[in-house]
Amino acid sequence: MSSELSKTDAAAQSARLDPARLPGHVAIIMDGNGRWAKQRLLNRVRGHEKGAETVRTIVTTSREIGISTLTLYAFSTENWQRSTLEVSALMLLLKKFLESEKPVMMENDIRLNAIGQIERLPDDVRNVLSAVMAATAGNQGMRLNLALSYGGRAEITRMTRAIAEKTASGALDPSSITEDMIASYLYTRDIPDPDLLIRTSGEMRISNFLLWQIAYAELYFTSTLWPDFSREEYLNILRAYQQRERRFGAA
Ligand code: IPE
Ligand code: IPE
Ligand code: MG
Repeated sequence: MSSELSKTDAAAQSARLDPARLPGHVAIIMDGNGRWAKQRLLNRVRGHEKGAETVRTIVTTSREIGISTLTLYAFSTENWQRSTLEVSALMLLLKKFLESEKPVMMENDIRLNAIGQIERLPDDVRNVLSAVMAATAGNQGMRLNLALSYGGRAEITRMTRAIAEKTASGALDPSSITEDMIASYLYTRDIPDPDLLIRTSGEMRISNFLLWQIAYAELYFTSTLWPDFSREEYLNILRAYQQRERRFGAA
């Protein structure tokens, strides 16, 4: 355990990062796959395929330097509106990604978790997802959360319904509802809030990602399209994060 810790500390230091001031939880809106493909006169799906390669780079880099939790926005509740062709290509890619990355996760002691409306995913994808989550459940080196059919508003609506049912049945007194209780009804119940939120592709918006959880996250936007996002740019952003002063409303 301690040798493991010093290994990540050494990797962070060699990347000119202070291991003591790393963001515990990094969340990323991986955007720009379609535009990357369009620039090259390729089908959007090629952009998603290239984007999956970037995912591997960023997952392994995060693990190497000692990030505890990485959450990746892979598919939003709104993304179901895309063409059947694109949606099924994304689902197939997700399944292939889970299969190919399982050994990488085992080797790197990474635990996989999913947040979102998992029940809406096709059966075959859900089966592979459950299998990889079960296989990696004991891993402790890093937690990888994939946001799949995830929407912040849907998550908040689901939480509200669950709490309302409890109050309606008399099991819960409305005056005892606290922020911690609300957080415990979200998909992220056992995950600390993100410290750093990165969005690629130049769009300056949140697009329904982790609305409750990013209350005090540091935001970082880059115009790089996700398939072009690199380990070096990621490390640069982490260095920039370490220069920020977080005040949480205090003077
Ligand atoms: C992000 O890339 C991947 C998903 C939303 C699934 P996009 O597919 O949104 O790419 P752009 O924004 O059209 O370039
Ligand atoms: C956000 O990107 C969702 C994911 C990255 C999975 P979108 O491309 O769907 O967001 P908008 O449409 O630009 O807001
Ligand atoms: Mg997009």
